[in-house]
Amino acid sequence: MPQPPEEKVAIVTGAASGIGLAIAERLARDGARTALFDLDGDAAETAAAKIRGGGGRAVAVPADVADRDAVARGLEEVRDRFGPVTILVNNAGKEGFRRFLDISPEKWNEMLAINLTGTFHCCQLVLPDMIAAGWGRIVNISSSSTHGGQPYMAHYVASKTGMVGLTKSLALEFGPDGVTVNTIPPGFIDTPMTRRNDARGRFGPGGIEEAISRTPVGRAGRPEDIAAACAFLVSDEAGYITGQIIGVNGGRNTS
Ligand SMILES: NC(=O)c1ccc[n+]([C@@H]2O[C@H](COP(=O)([O-])OP(=O)(O)OC[C@H]3O[C@@H](n4cnc5c(N)ncnc54)[C@H](O)[C@@H]3O)[C@@H](O)[C@H]2O)c1
Repeated sequence: MPQPPEEKVAIVTGAASGIGLAIAERLARDGARTALFDLDGDAAETAAAKIRGGGGRAVAVPADVADRDAVARGLEEVRDRFGPVTILVNNAGKEGFRRFLDISPEKWNEMLAINLTGTFHCCQLVLPDMIAAGWGRIVNISSSSTHGGQPYMAHYVASKTGMVGLTKSLALEFGPDGVTVNTIPPGFIDTPMTRRNDARGRFGPGGIEEAISRTPVGRAGRPEDIAAACAFLVSDEAGYITGQIIGVNGGRNTS
């Protein structure tokens, strides 16, 4: 039976901000050589430099996950620098807030291209490394909106719910190869995305404070809350957990 690799190499997408940044920092702190993929190459480089400054091993890779060639080029760079990739966190995502009748086919396709097809590209390109190692961990960051739907976000929720189906199918297909695939649907995490949604009135007139009052644990989530769950799911000891939806939402979504 293949052993877990001693040196873990991780890719985190959308790692220049919010949840992805916290995950990249956490995985690097736990010892993984970590590649920070992001559309915003400068912000990714700033984050990677901070990790390196703290003694971690990190590299920034400017890439749009919707661009398969860019992901493939970035992956080659990571392999050259750090070796085969055995941890993949698909976190890069775009939100959308629009009446369903106003979602153009272009907006619909753009949303799916980033959130769902981007995840497909990353999984398909990285999985051969994991299969060769006989060990791998994939965590897909979906959304708590997949539990119950969300008005004005049909394209976003559809793309994120697609990630849940992809997660379950890959878990079944690649379990025999030593690869686990799980999804964390975050709920109400205080990040730049959440602040943008608040500015658009997504949390109602009372804003974030009102949303906190409706959250059983009495606070907004922190990016580190998602990073902690992710760190466990990519650990050796989580090898019997696959195909699961691990909600991290302060009790806002219990089904
Ligand atoms: N914050 C929440 O409460 C919440 C809730 C549910 C789901 N999520 C999901 O968590 C993930 C992270 O969200 P966040 O709140 O940290 O957002 P954020 O906007 O703070 O960070 C997202 C990062 O992804 C990058 N990115 C966007 N599109 C990209 C692309 N095509 N290719 C590469 N990088 C890209 C951005 O540049 C940014 O650095 C997203 O997928 C989001 O849908 C967040």
